[in-house]
Amino acid sequence: MTLPQDIPSSAEDYMDSQTHSNRPISSILIIIAMQTEALPLVEKFQLSEDHNSVFPKEVPWVRYHGMYKDLQINLIWPGKDSALGVDSVGTISASLVTYASIQALQPDLIINAGTAGGFKAKGASIGDVFLVSECAFHDRRIPIPVFDLYGVGLKQALKTPNLLAGLDLKVGKLSTGDSLDMSVQDEASIIANDATVKDMEGAAVAYVADMFKVPAIFVKAVTDIVDGEKPTAEEFLQNLATVSAALDEAVTQVIHFISGKCIHEL
Ligand code: ADE
Repeated sequence: MTLPQDIPSSAEDYMDSQTHSNRPISSILIIIAMQTEALPLVEKFQLSEDHNSVFPKEVPWVRYHGMYKDLQINLIWPGKDSALGVDSVGTISASLVTYASIQALQPDLIINAGTAGGFKAKGASIGDVFLVSECAFHDRRIPIPVFDLYGVGLKQALKTPNLLAGLDLKVGKLSTGDSLDMSVQDEASIIANDATVKDMEGAAVAYVADMFKVPAIFVKAVTDIVDGEKPTAEEFLQNLATVSAALDEAVTQVIHFISGKCIHEL
């Protein structure tokens, strides 16, 4: 029974109560930007598409849901841009779906999974899967004191030492921006962020997750080497399908590990 004194008085208290809760995780929200990355997981966990959407009828967002053991899985894919028919990648869609999904689904844990560019100078290779330690932005440059830090928007991922020990994943920092390519300014910010991987959604998901104090983890698989020889877009498209399979394998292992555990056991 929940007594009045057990009701958290602030978002921070809520996060604290979640993190230290002895209740096993019962609901996870997986946010994946691209259909190619999402569909193998939908199949693997036999998730069903929600035709009675929990989202407003105007949005292209797609919810797949189902149970794995005692775990309610909601996988949200932001869908195709209604005008252009391509995946709604990037930070705007990512933050909107994260906000709406938290409101509608009240998850215990968020998993943002996706592909990323990797830096070989920081130890990344094609097909590596990273568990992210922290996220920041690299394309929000505001050179005014304190606004500069707001622009970088550094957020910590949930600390998951047991998950890391149990799975064969690399650890690295993630830098997020709304471009697949990398300008000279982006590169300087990514180096300042000490990032090993670069994506287009992670820090946006982290921003909203932090706002509502929902623990979040980030699983990112490397499709292209940003500091390598090959053109990024070409290398990304070439490796998308095979690396998505590696990503889905890693997310599957993460879900198996999570099942039956509390947040503080991860
Ligand atoms: N996703 C996959 N590769 C990427 C890159 N190089 N930059 C941003 N997002 C990516």
